[in-house]
Parts: sequence; structure tokens; C-alpha cells
Amino acid sequence: MSTFSAPKGTYDLIPPDSAAFLAVREALAAPLRRAGYGYVETPGFEHVELFSRGVGESTDIVTKEMYTLTTKGGTRLALRPEGTASVLRAALQANLHRAGNLPVKLWYSGTYYRYERPQAGRYRHFSQVGAEAIGAEDPVLDAELIILAADAYSSLGLRGVRLLLNSLGDRECRPAYRAALQEFLRGLDLDEETRARIEINPLRVLDDKRESVQRQLTGAPMMRDHLCEACKEYHERVRELIAGAGVAFTDDEKLVRGLDYYTRTTFEFVHDGLGSQSAVGGGGRYDGLSEMIGGPPLPSVGWALGVDRTLLALRAEEVAPGAPASADVFAVPLGEDARRALFTLVTALRRAGVAADFAFGGRGVKSAMKSANRSGARFAVVAGDRDLAEGVVQVKDLASGEQAPVPLVDAVEELRRRVAGSSPTG
Ligand code: HAM
Repeated sequence: MSTFSAPKGTYDLIPPDSAAFLAVREALAAPLRRAGYGYVETPGFEHVELFSRGVGESTDIVTKEMYTLTTKGGTRLALRPEGTASVLRAALQANLHRAGNLPVKLWYSGTYYRYERPQAGRYRHFSQVGAEAIGAEDPVLDAELIILAADAYSSLGLRGVRLLLNSLGDRECRPAYRAALQEFLRGLDLDEETRARIEINPLRVLDDKRESVQRQLTGAPMMRDHLCEACKEYHERVRELIAGAGVAFTDDEKLVRGLDYYTRTTFEFVHDGLGSQSAVGGGGRYDGLSEMIGGPPLPSVGWALGVDRTLLALRAEEVAPGAPASADVFAVPLGEDARRALFTLVTALRRAGVAADFAFGGRGVKSAMKSANRSGARFAVVAGDRDLAEGVVQVKDLASGEQAPVPLVDAVEELRRRVAGSSPTG
């Protein structure tokens, strides 16, 4: 233990859990690569105004949760609390939308920062894999993204992920709905903070988790009943397309996301094994965001999936994500000459694409074999002076315990063949 520990609300990713984390991140991104999304990476911090304008001046993320700083030159920056505003900013800055090939489809993976009250599944530093399809208004695109996320979860073997779906309308129909909702909410018995919210962001009141509030919301006007014809039809098409792809969903008319940029399609993937922080991913359409940050009209849709929470969901279901063993072959030398010979062999194995590790530190054979077993390797390669004199190494199958000599000159090829032929460990 050192004098320091990781800051509150953060945690270190260390082996063996880190391997599962990488496997989850890879699995969440794999469907996007197959669907024509290109990788984008943006800075960890941006101008504060990008988020206050983009995510919304009245959201918790902007008012309470951003880590902000002022540089020595007086520039106000914020650690990114989410990826959408940054990715859209980057696409606009690089003029990707002008290349005449819309939508621009991008995916990303990174860490995000929110000064939230830490609890199980809620961190101040967390990871997302995200996707944004910029510059097209097409229900097929919304459906594509939802299906890709659902496929990503099922590729991990998760069975308890549920999809909640809603439409938040557009600039045609939302203002009238907002006014109707405000009128209803003003008649309720609510605390001061919630009353203030009615005036700034009334839809968020629908999302209030308190029983005392939920009870009073019976009979509240719902967006569903106020959608204009175009929004209604758009939503119906999205629903048909995802149902047609075999993705189950629940209509959730109270689903309001914590970011202000959403229009029309909004959705959340939830898992019931996670306690109160049940959202493993979420997203939706944000047709007005580009204009809000100074760009041209670019209707867009996207999502972000939480890597940390997906890993917790896998644990809750007791599914082991396919974390690969750290080595396929583990070398155990007995004596100084063997150390040299087996280190050469390990280097050659790695160059031949075989994951190989070595018993470092000149330990006894017992402790070296323990390391071999712990590494998850399929084979141990053991050699002493007598083996080397005979030009062989002993190859031990760690699963069956069988051991046989293999000529040192053939060892790379033989092990490569056996590793490829053995069932993969992950
Ligand atoms: P979000 O719902 O704020 O959406 O975050 C997406 C996911 O990130 C959540 O469902 C959750 O799994 C994870 N997440 C969020 N906050 C935390 C936290 N404090 N600790 C651990 N995990 C967390 C967005 O960020 C939007 N940018 C999604 C989007 C993309 N919409 C359109 N395009």
C-alpha cells in the first residue's frame, strides 16, 4: 500500500479483470466495424461551451457534474462528460459531412468524467463504446444502431438486457406537449427544486424516481399522445424494423434521457441485475445538435454503451466474457543454459504468433509450474541440462498432464500447430 489511493469514484483496472474489460470493449465495438463505422478519437477535454450548449444548460451533467478548469491562458475547458458533442464537433471541424457521403458513420471508445455521487455501477471516471451516424434522417438508420447494440450484448452471452423505447417528438410537436405537461405539473404538490425543474426542463420530472412524485404523475399528458403525424410515422417505422430483426423492446413513454439534445427516437438498454444504476447503454436521435453547436442542419442518431456496467451485468449473470489466457505456452527452465535456450524459444514463439511467457527470476521448478498453471497456458515447456544435451525440450499438456520430448529445432512449429489445434481458452 502506498500513501495514495485512486480518487473517490474511480477504480484501477488490473489483471485479471482488465482482460475481461478489454474483451467486453472489443465485443461492443465489433458489430460497428462490420457495419461500416469508422474509428474516431477526440481529446479528453473540450471547451466548456460545447457541452453547455450541446448537452444542455439545465441538465445535471452540465450544472453539477462537469469537471471544469481554466488554463493559464484563461481558456475554460471541461473533461468530456460524454462523447456525442465531441464527435459531432470533430466531424464538423474536418468537414466530413461535406464529402457527399451521408451519413457519416463513426464509432469511438474512451473514458468519460462526471462528478456524480459514487455508488455501485456509477463512477466519476467510466468507459463507453459509442457510435454516431451523422447527417441522415432515416428510420432504417435508427434501427441499424439499435440492432447493432442488441447484437453486441447478445454476442457477449448476456440474456437479461431489456430495450426501452420512446419518441420525444421534434421541434414541431414538442413545444405544445411541453406546455401541456408544464400546466399539469404546476398543479401538483412538489418540492421547490422540482417546481423549478418544471419551468426549465419539465420532461425530466417524468423521470423522477421518488414514489411520492410518481404517484402524482398518473394522468400526466404523455408525448406519445402529442406526436405530430411525421414523428408518429417515423416512430412506427423504427418499431417495425427492430421488431422485424427479432429485437424485443418495451415502449416506455416515460423514458426521458439525461441529455437535452434528443429528438424523436430515444432508447435505453437496462439490466435488472445492477440495482439502481440499471442502464447499460442508451442513445437516440439528435436532429438539432449540429445547429446548436454552430453547424448546418444534420439530423443524426447514435448511442453509447457503458463498458463498466456491461461488465457488471456479465458478472450478475455469471457469464465469463471470453478473456484470453495470458499465455498459450509457459517456459520453465531448469538451470542457466536452459534459461538461455528457452528464452530464445519464447522469443521465437512470440514472433510466430504464439502467446508465450517465461518463469522469470530463477525460481524453483515448483513455483515456476504454479505460475505456468496460473497463466492459463495450455502447454508448459520444461528443459534442463540433460534435455539440452539430447537436443530436446519436454512439452507438457497442462490440462491432461501428459508430457513428451520434442526436438528443440522443431519446437516452434510443433507448439504453433498444437496451440492452433487445441480448443481456444477464450
Ligand atoms: P448516457 O446515457 O449518459 O448517454 O451514457 C451512456 C451509458 O454510459 C450509460 O447507459 C451507462 O452505461 C454509462 N454511464 C454513464 N454514466 C456513467 C457513470 N457515472 N458510471 C458508469 N457508467 C456510466 C450518453 O453519454 C450519450 N452520449 C449517448 C449517445 C450517443 N446519444 C447519442 N449518441
